[in-house]
Amino acid sequence: MMVKVEGLLDAEEVSRLRELLDAGEWVDGNETSGHQSRLAKRNQQLKQGSQVARQAGNFVLDALGKAEEFIAAALPLKVFPPLFNRYEGGEAFGSHVDNSIRALPGQDFRLRSDLSATLFLEPPENYTGGELIVEDLFGEHSVKLAAGDMVLYPASSVHRVEPVTKGARTACFFWLQSMVRDNSAREQLYRLDRSIRTLTQRSGGEDEVVVELTSLYHNLMRRWADA
Ligand code: NI
Repeated sequence: MMVKVEGLLDAEEVSRLRELLDAGEWVDGNETSGHQSRLAKRNQQLKQGSQVARQAGNFVLDALGKAEEFIAAALPLKVFPPLFNRYEGGEAFGSHVDNSIRALPGQDFRLRSDLSATLFLEPPENYTGGELIVEDLFGEHSVKLAAGDMVLYPASSVHRVEPVTKGARTACFFWLQSMVRDNSAREQLYRLDRSIRTLTQRSGGEDEVVVELTSLYHNLMRRWADA
């Protein structure tokens, strides 16, 4: 399942974050690569562990904590501290898969990457190329979103970033471990949750079917989730 989270950051938050990022130190993007992806990756990355990186990462984490749609879709258990990358002058990231286990160097923090996320931080009309292409059994899905919008996609999928031939693409990316490991189970829960929310709005919350479906949702969570 791929999910678009619209307006994770509003225009004012995007410009505050960009101000912070643009003043930071950018290094070769291969700092965080696994063996296979190192061969495919050409981009720049905000220096991991720098003060700006920590500040910018916390800024995004704060927004995630308030984003109802993100929480409903991802059911996050652990979120990797957000990273930031930039592509320009023909830079690209060829087809690859993300590492299954992510650790923070020198810290007691590890997660299984169930979902990958890209938060777009540059208006799409400002650069050419730079589409995130995610492959699944239906084919290829091309994603290029407004600044402040985010896409969630299975970390298990083969994906790439097309060359940026004009302008620059700045984005935030991270991985997360979900409380629900199985992609399909998580998708069913998300669809049930959306239906319950729609039904609640329609009935003003007075409908006993809403109570029954909510009970079902939580019972499935008890069955499938690790907390
Ligand atoms: Ni990747």
